[in-house]
Amino acid sequence: MDVLLCRASTLTWSQSISPCLHSSAKPFSRCEAKKFRVFCTSDHTQKASQMTVSVTGATGFIGRRLVQRLQADNHQVRVLTRSRSKAELIFPGKKTRFFPGVMIAEEPQWRDCIQGSTAVVNLAGTPIGTRWSSEIKKEIKESRIRVTSKVVDLINESPEGVRPSVLELVKPKYLMRAAHQEMITWLSDYCAKVYCLVCREWEGTALKVNKDVRLALIRIGIVLGKDGGALAKMIPLFMMFAGGPLGSGQQWFSWIHLDDIVNLIYEALSNPSYRGVINGTAPNPVRLAEMCDHLGNVLGRPSWLPVPEFALKAVLGEGAFVVLEGQRVVPARAKELGFPFKYRYVKDALKAIMS
Ligand SMILES: NC(=O)c1ccc[n+]([C@@H]2O[C@H](COP(=O)([O-])OP(=O)(O)OC[C@H]3O[C@@H](n4cnc5c(N)ncnc54)[C@H](OP(=O)(O)O)[C@@H]3O)[C@@H](O)[C@H]2O)c1
Repeated sequence: MDVLLCRASTLTWSQSISPCLHSSAKPFSRCEAKKFRVFCTSDHTQKASQMTVSVTGATGFIGRRLVQRLQADNHQVRVLTRSRSKAELIFPGKKTRFFPGVMIAEEPQWRDCIQGSTAVVNLAGTPIGTRWSSEIKKEIKESRIRVTSKVVDLINESPEGVRPSVLELVKPKYLMRAAHQEMITWLSDYCAKVYCLVCREWEGTALKVNKDVRLALIRIGIVLGKDGGALAKMIPLFMMFAGGPLGSGQQWFSWIHLDDIVNLIYEALSNPSYRGVINGTAPNPVRLAEMCDHLGNVLGRPSWLPVPEFALKAVLGEGAFVVLEGQRVVPARAKELGFPFKYRYVKDALKAIMS
């Protein structure tokens, strides 16, 4: 099939399909999908030649947008999922012809998908925003290590010639020290003692990938988008006039807009300079109270009712630390690489999301 690429240096991907940017887990509609078939690219995207990208966790909040992003530039996508029926609801390719480049594969077919892919992006893992029982804690760790280990083994077993040349692991940002490590300028004791260990093991699993595969470990902040992640939980509270800082409000909130994290992942697929640890957070982290003030302003709702620490612990269990104990993270490496953040300030990011 011929692909028409037209230069449009002022047209960026997200501008060209912005009405679709906040679509949720519901299947993409006919009208939304039509808008993905935009073959104009910016200078930024034009350099990427056609790729075949296998994505685990593609059905999730970040993965869905990444698939749209890849499709918009006419790359082939292989959705590696635990459930074909769930993935087919989200990417109804066969039935509607609107996701023609998306192939869906359950675990037994992952090997065939990975072989012949240009790159693999690993996003899978049990959600962390639920109440942490001891079983959930175990699952949070084991699901990530299990999928990463499987992906790494399948890449390593792939014969040369069909072995992917890039592996991206996208994960939370908790880790203080490692080779080529980016610094986190503030991290609570709890994170340092408990969650870092999970992340270290997780990254350690990814580091077992063959040395001829370029590995990018993208450590991300709290992703802001309308229909998923932290904001999806906060917006309804604010709309009921019950929004406010969680805990003291003084904890750091290292965030990134969904478009920026997807663009960063996308850039890392094709740009060989993106390797090792890269913090995926916006350049200007804020205190949580400031973030809540901006959210209240954007929604036209007050941010006046602080949620006390004990209430959060009652709802989220040990997982409350994710919101109660922040980390201040800056994207030094991404800046060094010249990554063009679209949203540098949380106020602008929230305005764009709510507009
Ligand atoms: N969203 C954020 O703000 C944020 C912040 C920091 C880090 N992260 C990390 O970035 C990654 C992607 O985030 P996300 O928000 O897109 O996640 P998500 O919406 O929760 O989606 C994750 C995907 O992982 C798969 N999955 C769920 N439970 C699993 C299990 N027990 N075993 C194997 N796979 C499982 C599911 O895909 P299938 O059902 O199709 O298999 C799911 O769609 C996650 O590892 C997350 O922890 C996210």
